[in-house]
Amino acid sequence: MKRSFEGWAPSSSGEKAEVMLTVALCKGKLTEPTLDLFAKAGYGAARPAADSRRLLIPCPQIGMTFLIVRPADVPTYVEHGAADVGIVGKDVLLEQDSDVYEPLDLGFGACRIAVAAFRGQTARDRLSSKIRVATKYPKITERYFNQRGVPVEIIKLYGSIELAPIVGLADRIVDLVETGNTLKAHGLIETECIARSTARLIVNRASLKLKHEAIAELLKNLRSACTAPSPPARAGSPKPMRAVGRKDKRSRT
Ligand code: PRP
Repeated sequence: MKRSFEGWAPSSSGEKAEVMLTVALCKGKLTEPTLDLFAKAGYGAARPAADSRRLLIPCPQIGMTFLIVRPADVPTYVEHGAADVGIVGKDVLLEQDSDVYEPLDLGFGACRIAVAAFRGQTARDRLSSKIRVATKYPKITERYFNQRGVPVEIIKLYGSIELAPIVGLADRIVDLVETGNTLKAHGLIETECIARSTARLIVNRASLKLKHEAIAELLKNLRSACTAPSPPARAGSPKPMRAVGRKDKRSRT
């Protein structure tokens, strides 16, 4: 059980804030821009080294403990209260339809969920025959094609989606597109945009009541940091992130 992890002692280690917030962070492309935003908002968290395998980072000085989890797991941690708040892409929220508040669009990680096919293959959309669609987003895909009356067979994959049409596994894909370079490199073209995505802050429903002051303060500071001008980019700094989520249970805390 993770709570026995050395250092997981938010109530007993060093200088600390009165209320500790547990923050579920997306492992991967959203990690750095999220930590940048938190630092800009006044929460200068201890950054794990690039090759760090740490999954739990207590930062009592800023009253937070960070959990490093896979993007698709962030809503689960927050919905069940293992984390008070989380940062995740809208694409994940759209797919999972989790019971969480989604009070803040963080703006970074902009991308879209799109349908793509080989150039010239669009004529295969016929109402009479099922098209095979490979995707990490089976629910979004099913909803989208159902609403259009297009019968589809969905092939669930976990990555490298662009490969599916090349090897004949699927006629179409539904995937994230940021720059479009990956599609282009595989001879695919975007045919429809299903939804746009950016990183979102999500909040556990009970935490919003029980830790209202700390969460309201976090929201205020993150909102200010989102709108504040960014410092000039350093040479070699990473490009802006693509993001990620769904349910419009918005709360203006
Ligand atoms: C994502 C997505 C595309 C690519 C799009 O993949 O699934 O493959 O990024 O980016 P682009 O439009 O800028 O080329 P990711 O890197 O997350 O890896 P994955 O294929 O394992 O999901």
